[in-house]
Amino acid sequence: MSENKPVILTCAQPTGGLTIGNYLGAIKNWADMLEGNTCFFGIVDMHAITVDYTPAELRKNSLSCVAQYIACGIEPEKANMFIQSHVTGHAELAWVLSCITPLGELQRMTQFKDKVQVQAKTQGLGSNIEGDDSIENQDPTSRVSINSGLLMYPVLMAADILLYNADAVPVGADQKQHLELCRNLAQRFNQRYSDTFKVPEPFIPKFGQRIMSLQDPTRKMSKSDPNKNATLFLLDDPKLIKKKIMSAVTDSARDIELSESRPGLSNLINIYSAFSDQTPESIVQSFKGKGYGDLKSDLADLVIEKLKPVQERYHNLMKDPAYLEAVLKEGAEAAQKQAFKMLRKVYKKSGFLNRS
Ligand code: AMP
Ligand code: TRP
Repeated sequence: MSENKPVILTCAQPTGGLTIGNYLGAIKNWADMLEGNTCFFGIVDMHAITVDYTPAELRKNSLSCVAQYIACGIEPEKANMFIQSHVTGHAELAWVLSCITPLGELQRMTQFKDKVQVQAKTQGLGSNIEGDDSIENQDPTSRVSINSGLLMYPVLMAADILLYNADAVPVGADQKQHLELCRNLAQRFNQRYSDTFKVPEPFIPKFGQRIMSLQDPTRKMSKSDPNKNATLFLLDDPKLIKKKIMSAVTDSARDIELSESRPGLSNLINIYSAFSDQTPESIVQSFKGKGYGDLKSDLADLVIEKLKPVQERYHNLMKDPAYLEAVLKEGAEAAQKQAFKMLRKVYKKSGFLNRS
């Protein structure tokens, strides 16, 4: 690993299949960064246990996730791909950082509040919480049973980043707030204990940064959406891709145009743009005089064509788990080296006695 190359780090949770939101908002951009950078790509299984999960599923998803990354173009020879729990240091650094993190900052995180709402619904408290205008000013945990890991999640995420002295962190727009917290924590630690961490820059792509649900285009497309037609997964077969795109929720207007007040249409154009590398303007131009049927049908063909090689590579990789495990072993060794180096520095500055 070259010392003077910029360090790029990013991570994703191994929760189920990856969506085209993950692909377009994250992984596709990571693949473009392999040259000229030292890359760390983490599969953050410790984050995945902050919500309801099944151990056997998590195990299966972690391996499948690596195969999906490689299939999407993350070449293992050019990147350190690792499982978070294989590297000692993430939880340890998170603990140190938690001691300089005000509780209120964590309670204000949008993703935390969203997840509290979801848990409130599953606990039958939905109607108490929804529609409550003063919720912003309340302790969102007061009426719901929330595990503290969910609250601590952004601190663990900051540790994931700061442990590797990352220069840039490619993420989707939804992670901006977490990145801001990470930068604050790095600065706070540096001020208190002297210069230690690099303050990382978020890298948010221009196109395709926020792919919305096909069924409710005002919400982000998510792996965990209960509406099965809302989310396009990388491993969906062509028939299913076609069905989901053709039934995407739009509006009753006829023409294809760029308009912020038409979120369903904007989302389809955005997906088209990201998969074809064409600008939204040129897509609108090429659908002049045509309607939703044409746009959806062409978009489905495009997505099927672009995902076909990814799916073929994935299925071949899954036939060889020993290869995938070897990739992870090598990735964890490189990550561990860096993690121990940083953790030692942090412990020393924090006043922990040197271990002889
Ligand atoms: P997650 O699925 O939440 O683990 O996210 C993994 C990565 O994909 C993160 O960088 C997210 O910002 C990105 N991501 C997830 N969903 C979307 C989406 N609908 N649009 C764009 N990026 C997304
Ligand atoms: N919170 C991120 C997400 O939900 C995943 C994540 C965890 C991450 N640690 C990270 C992303 C470090 C970038 C860097 O998408």
